[in-house]
Amino acid sequence: MHNQTRRASVRTLAAMLLAFAVTLSAAPAALAAEGGSYPNANINVHDQAALQRGARLYMNYCVGCHSLKYVRYSQLAGGIGLTEKQVMDNLNFTGAKFGEPIVTAMPEADAEKWFGKVPPDLSLEVSAKGADWVSAYLKSFYLDPATNSGWNNTVFPNVAMPFPLWQLQGEQEAVMNPPENGQPATVRELKLAHPGSLTPAQYDEAVRDLTTFLAYVSAPDELVRSHIGAWVVLYLVLFTLFALVLKKEYWKDVH
Ligand code: HEC
Repeated sequence: MHNQTRRASVRTLAAMLLAFAVTLSAAPAALAAEGGSYPNANINVHDQAALQRGARLYMNYCVGCHSLKYVRYSQLAGGIGLTEKQVMDNLNFTGAKFGEPIVTAMPEADAEKWFGKVPPDLSLEVSAKGADWVSAYLKSFYLDPATNSGWNNTVFPNVAMPFPLWQLQGEQEAVMNPPENGQPATVRELKLAHPGSLTPAQYDEAVRDLTTFLAYVSAPDELVRSHIGAWVVLYLVLFTLFALVLKKEYWKDVH
């Protein structure tokens, strides 16, 4: 009789833990689904070397137009494993102070005049669009003489952004589908017409680093949060065991 009770409580405990584990593992899957139908960006925000390479690319090719106003240089340092001196020497070209947010030097009125659009702040871009979207976007620029900048993009058609990484990726051209029933022709695929300084594999790697960095700035607390998460789970498991032992102790006298 006593043995049966114990087996039952062990079974209950196992079921509880299983339900808990299922809940935990379902959450990231639900978040990842936001990326839509774009290829997996395959990023790992715990990879500090990738974060550092991504930060460098961002400061060289993007910050001239796009601010990261919710992130301070000081936050950046700790988060991606650099010292204050390394950040100020290698990643801060605007003369901002260490404690200041990452803003762009370009006045909005000029941007409006040059591109017809103000380049948006990218602090929350990965939260808004998903890492997969950002990664696909950065691989989908192609030459198009019909646009103002000379560039178009299959992920963001008629985007006002001139492709800043063309020297790295090279220049892609669109192979068009034949026009159908008077509809404008659509893009079938992109072909690398003029190679850049990186091979396609190296360019994919660079986009992965850049996307990793943008994912990190979208949720700088995530690194801390995921460490705390492990302790919370451990606490819950230990507490459950403790509660079971306690319950047994109380019910001993009742039986
Ligand atoms: C010369 C200025 C300029 C540079 C440099 C630049 N961008 Fe842009 N970017 C723009 C403009 C302008 C837009 C707005 C385009 C639009 O809405 O049509 C834009 C839009 C974007 C968007 C889409 C935002 C949205 O609407 O969701 C992303 C993502 C982006 N840029 C990423 C980058 C990255 C990453 C870099 C660096 C590799 C970069 N940009 C460099 C001007 C720039």
